[in-house]
Amino acid sequence: MKTDIILCPSILSADFSRLGEEIARLERAGADMIHIDVMDGDFVPNITIGPPVIKRLRELTKLPFDVHLMITQPDRHLGAFAEAGADIITVHAEACTHLSRTLGHIRALGAKPSVALNPHTPLDFVRWVIGDATMVLVMTVNPGFGGQSFIDAMYGKVAAVRAMADDAGIPIDIEVDGGVNSQNIEKVFRAGANVIVAGSAVFHAADMRAELESYRTAAKAAARSAIL
Ligand code: DX5
Ligand code: ZN
Repeated sequence: MKTDIILCPSILSADFSRLGEEIARLERAGADMIHIDVMDGDFVPNITIGPPVIKRLRELTKLPFDVHLMITQPDRHLGAFAEAGADIITVHAEACTHLSRTLGHIRALGAKPSVALNPHTPLDFVRWVIGDATMVLVMTVNPGFGGQSFIDAMYGKVAAVRAMADDAGIPIDIEVDGGVNSQNIEKVFRAGANVIVAGSAVFHAADMRAELESYRTAAKAAARSAIL
C-alpha cells in the first residue's frame, strides 16, 4: 500500500546548546520532519528535554514535530506536549495500560497518534488498535541512546507490521528509529518502512544534505527492486 517517504532526523545527536541552529541546518538539508526524543530516566536510562524546550523550538520552524515519548506515564503529559506544538505524539505500547484510550486522547488534542514498540514487544500489542493510530514506530535499537547498532531481526518485524497493516487495509506510516544509516537504509525501505529517523548518521555526516539525499535515492532503488 502506497505511503510517502518522510525523512525525520532526530535531534538527539544535535548540539543541545544550539538546538535552534541545528534545526535550521536540518531544514536546509532537506528534512521533512523533526524527531524529538523525550526521555524520563525511568522508562529509559536517560533524560532529555520536555515541553518548555519544544515550545520554544516550535517558534523557529514550520517543519512538523514528531515527538517520541519514552516515558512511563505518557497520559499525564499529553496535553502539555500537544500544547507545546507536537504534530505527532508517539507513546510506547509498553507504557500504556489503555492504549486505545491514550491514542484517542492524542487525537482529541489535535495531534496525530502514533505507537512505538520496543524490539522485544510482540506485534499483537498494536494489532487491535492499529486503526486508532496514524503511525507505528518500530524501535530498531533498545531505546535510550543515539549511536547504537541496528538490530537486524527488526527488518522482519517491520515487514510483519507492514503486512498486518496491508491485511487490515490501513495505509499506516511505519517509522524506524535507531541505527539507521546509508548502509542499511535501502533494506529498511524494502522491509516496508516509510518514515525514517536517523540521528548520529545525519549529524555526523560530512555533508548532511548529501546524507539525506542518499536516503531518497535508496528509497527509489528499493521501490524499483520491488517492481522487478
Ligand atoms: C533512541 C532514540 C532515537 C535515536 C536514534 O532511543 O529514540 O531517536 O536518536 O539515534 P541513532 O540514529 O543515532 O540511532
Ligand atoms: Zn526516537
